Amino acid sequence: MADIPQDLLGQIKYLEDLFTVPASKLKEITDHFVKELAKGLSVEGGSIPMNVTWVMGYPTGEEQGTFIALDMGGTNLRVCEIVLPEEKGEFEIIQSKYRMPEELKTGKSEELWEYIADCVQQFIDYHHEDGKLGTVPMGFTFSYPCTQDYVDHGVLQRWTKGFDISGVEGEDVVPLFEAALKKRGLPIHLTALINDTTGTLIASNYTDQSTRIGAIFGTGCNAAYMENVGSCPKIAHLNLPPETPIAINCEYGAFDNEHIVLPLTKYDKIIDADSPRPGQQAFEKMISGLYLGEIFRLVLLDLHQGNACTIFEGQSMTKLSKPYSLDASFLSLIEEDPFENLSETHDLLKQQLGLDAKKPELELVRRLAELIGTRAARLSACGIAAIAKKKDLQAPCHVGADGSVFNKYPHFKARGAQALRDIFDWPASTIQQRGKEDPIDIRAAEDGSGVGAALIAALTIKRVKEGNL
Ligand code: GLC
Repeated sequence: MADIPQDLLGQIKYLEDLFTVPASKLKEITDHFVKELAKGLSVEGGSIPMNVTWVMGYPTGEEQGTFIALDMGGTNLRVCEIVLPEEKGEFEIIQSKYRMPEELKTGKSEELWEYIADCVQQFIDYHHEDGKLGTVPMGFTFSYPCTQDYVDHGVLQRWTKGFDISGVEGEDVVPLFEAALKKRGLPIHLTALINDTTGTLIASNYTDQSTRIGAIFGTGCNAAYMENVGSCPKIAHLNLPPETPIAINCEYGAFDNEHIVLPLTKYDKIIDADSPRPGQQAFEKMISGLYLGEIFRLVLLDLHQGNACTIFEGQSMTKLSKPYSLDASFLSLIEEDPFENLSETHDLLKQQLGLDAKKPELELVRRLAELIGTRAARLSACGIAAIAKKKDLQAPCHVGADGSVFNKYPHFKARGAQALRDIFDWPASTIQQRGKEDPIDIRAAEDGSGVGAALIAALTIKRVKEGNL
């Protein structure tokens, strides 16, 4: 970086100080996180919801049958038909994806359920023209925080990930959706309402029994794990045997909403203040895919407007001024730019933002993307580490992970793995002894919102039959 002017070098240093999270901080965050997980399970509760999911144990491999799995994601809606085989093995899956129109995310409740039911209807009409499909159980992956008294019920606590549909918060989403299904006479019985993390945990454990945590690093961030009832004081009144396993959807995107331990920058504070739900999802807003591009945009804009350096001097900032105009894939492309001269980054800035960046500016942009991406991966690891510490999970402990950031963001996995090593001080020898695998290994998950949802529906039906609900 020899040819970078002093003022830009100064800014790079400023950004490095701002976004770098050293091992000591990761440890501090993790320790606080462990306490907050326990608080969420207490009667008084804390900022992390620690939602009880009524998924009570791992699959045995004997689950079988035909199921519909519906996944309402932030970008797509996916409908799947899944056949779990008689003997554990390959599952059959047919699926269709539908776009989730942007305007639905801030529209009216009824429009949302009608749209989703329309997609399910299209799917059934297309794949079962003969109309011979009997009543099929459905696992509905609805990945927002819900209070569940039963597995086929769920009161939305609040919207996350930029959704803001009125009339749903505080309501049980199941009857709302069922009404739309019923109107269409669809042969579907909503058996289980599922979070994507719980689906991921169950699907990954089905194929790999060392899976102890299901995590999503995507538009949002969150994880689920198997707790025992005795460690959940908030359901003690139900008098269930204390050793009964029960999956907890942590909803830890809400970690540190009180801003005690997270190293918030002024950019994180702007994102929070301008979001539909200020004061909520503090952790998620620093690390998940929905916000990475926005953090990057805010920094560049600030550097342009500030006095300390002259980035993009004299150029029009019209495009860069539009909130949420950049998503995480923009940062991914910058981090992937293989060339010494950062020509792809140059073209990207030119095409998408109308900015003609000089070489030193490109260096700054690249470093900024690295810093934001690295901070996200390192902070993400704290949530996983906290669950592992709380449960004293021992090697081999696999974490089934899914989501666009985990699957597509360059170096995310390696950076997260390094952060876990920093948090646990694993000596190199421990890792070498275990071959290439770390004691806690975050790896690509099985399809949680498809296969996981089907498995959970199957587990629920079995429990009902056994009279164990
Ligand atoms: C948000 C949602 C949570 C979900 C996560 C990942 O944090 O509140 O339910 O699991 O995003 O999709």
